Amino acid sequence: MSRAFNFSAGPATLPESVLLQAQAEMLEWRDSGASIVEHSHRGPEFIQVAAEAEADLRALMSIPDDYAVLFLSGGATTQQALIPLNLAAPGQSADYVVSGHWSKTAIKQAKPYVAVNTVASSEAGGFRDIPARSDWRLSKDAAYVHITANETIHGVEYRPSHYGDTLDTGDTPLFADFSSSIASEPIDISKYGLIYAGAQKNLGPVGVTVVIVRRELLERAGQPRADIFTYAAHLKGESMLNTPPTWNWYMLGLNVKWMLAEGGVAEFARRNAEKAALLYAAIDGSGGYYRNEVDPAVRSRMNIPFFLHDDALDKSFLAEAKAAGLIALKGHRALGGMRASIYNAMPVAGVKALVAFMQDFQSRHG
Ligand SMILES: Cc1ncc(COP(=O)(O)O)c(C=O)c1O
Repeated sequence: MSRAFNFSAGPATLPESVLLQAQAEMLEWRDSGASIVEHSHRGPEFIQVAAEAEADLRALMSIPDDYAVLFLSGGATTQQALIPLNLAAPGQSADYVVSGHWSKTAIKQAKPYVAVNTVASSEAGGFRDIPARSDWRLSKDAAYVHITANETIHGVEYRPSHYGDTLDTGDTPLFADFSSSIASEPIDISKYGLIYAGAQKNLGPVGVTVVIVRRELLERAGQPRADIFTYAAHLKGESMLNTPPTWNWYMLGLNVKWMLAEGGVAEFARRNAEKAALLYAAIDGSGGYYRNEVDPAVRSRMNIPFFLHDDALDKSFLAEAKAAGLIALKGHRALGGMRASIYNAMPVAGVKALVAFMQDFQSRHG
């Protein structure tokens, strides 16, 4: 068996040691007589797994006590609908900043439940940058301001060096889709009212979604809805209102333990910055053979779209990359070209291998 370096945008690569531990525990979890997937979610075994996962995630991300952590199913897309249902009053508006495909998805899911104000958009420029904070036309009585922290397809990311503390939205809470950048660098959670992310890129396998929300926001009445769509009810039920995705939650827990053991988010921030710098330098230093079109101030550290100077070479690039043990580099169909997703679990060695391959490909097909 030889595992390739997997640049998939999500579901994405996981650490080999985590996969091996899951394999070793598949038949029997810690002398319990059964696999963790076979235990009741209400039994002591899974309750322990769930509690450890939450405590470890709180430690990893320095989540303050006045924030609840929910482990839900339905993916980030479901949260995009649940957010206005729970946190906007009937007839209220909410402010959305549009910086790429996933901002637009957030609006699409929210529209049935809230009056959406698009307060700024970088669509006219093809989503190659993010609207400057000074251009956001925030409303006075919005329920929240929604941003997409990292645009997985367009490869733009709110960088602290560019935005600093200017993301402050005053009395209106800031909500952020962190699906493709959660736990990739230290962030100050207290600056946000709510953060959500599907696990399948930076935290573990697909099937479990993390919602981190300031507890006092859950006192908002929101709109008429069933219990199963209610964050406060999920919190009261410890994310077990119905049968939760136990296997995915367990895998997330293993992955978070791995991240803590490797040095936590500060260490991943270092590695992620190193990987992104290596790849952007290779693209920018290729004399135009490869190009990335994003404003360097907001280039994503996680998802790096790039194009070959001649798209007739795309097929050979992908085939030869695969033969060299580098998989899932095909760009999203909305953009074409290539995309390398280099989340927490992608080792620096994977990016070095990709860079070496790109240089070799250029020398052979130049
Ligand atoms: C930034 C972002 N938001 C939302 C989604 C949708 O997530 P899900 O498929 O978990 O609903 C994705 C998926 O790739 C994403 O990258």
